Amino acid sequence: MKIGHFITFEGGEGVGKSTQARLLADRLKVAGHVVVVTREPGGTPLAEKIRDLILQQRPKSPEAEFLMFAAARAEHLSAVIRPALEAGQTVICDRFIDSTRVYQGDVFGVERALILAVEQLVVAPTIPDLTIVLDLDPTVGLKRAAERGTLSRYDKARIEIHDDLRQGFLTIAQSEPDRCVIIDAARSVDVIAADVWTAVAARLVPACG
Ligand SMILES: Nc1ncnc2c1ncn2[C@@H]1O[C@H](COP(=O)(O)OP(=O)(O)OP(=O)(O)O)[C@@H](O)[C@H]1O
Ligand SMILES: [Mg+2]
Repeated sequence: MKIGHFITFEGGEGVGKSTQARLLADRLKVAGHVVVVTREPGGTPLAEKIRDLILQQRPKSPEAEFLMFAAARAEHLSAVIRPALEAGQTVICDRFIDSTRVYQGDVFGVERALILAVEQLVVAPTIPDLTIVLDLDPTVGLKRAAERGTLSRYDKARIEIHDDLRQGFLTIAQSEPDRCVIIDAARSVDVIAADVWTAVAARLVPACG
């Protein structure tokens, strides 16, 4: 049975997901929560190996790539996310189902039915309680990621793809307002963190009161 809160950060490249995940974890810890910060793809030794494999040698088939990510997610759920939630801990995950929907689904063309089947049969019932979608002009996000000095093959994709990704995340957030909050990520780190905290406190009350 799930007891803890499950929070995910989503959005395009360089929008500040990892930065905000870390800041939220720090703040929740100060408030007395036990917090696990993790990421996808990855989050366990095996899942990180799958992540490295995919990033080094891209599968030719989008379905193969999707299923490898799905295998990593199944492992991550059973080894890390569910045990932590069952122990009453708060889990913060940097990218999750929405990244799959927009990258593998909207951009790389994996059938939505396949993606939803895996969500329903593998991920459920461990659906995030709250998803923070950080929204930013992709040219700004890519510049941030480039300045940080690590661009993946996704970062290097054509700018139109990044516009599609941004729209994909916004569409999901608008269609699932109970789960998702959109936050303007063009502002300072501290201002965004304050909005993230407000969203967490509002949604997951009384835990963050
Ligand atoms: N609000 C902000 N304003 C300016 N710079 C920021 C802001 N938030 C994060 N940064 C910087 O931008 C870079 C990207 O941030 P971060 O790594 O948190 O983004 P990300 O969404 O996790 O990126 P990726 O998709 O590549 O994992 C980092 O160097 C970070 O310090
Ligand atoms: Mg990151």
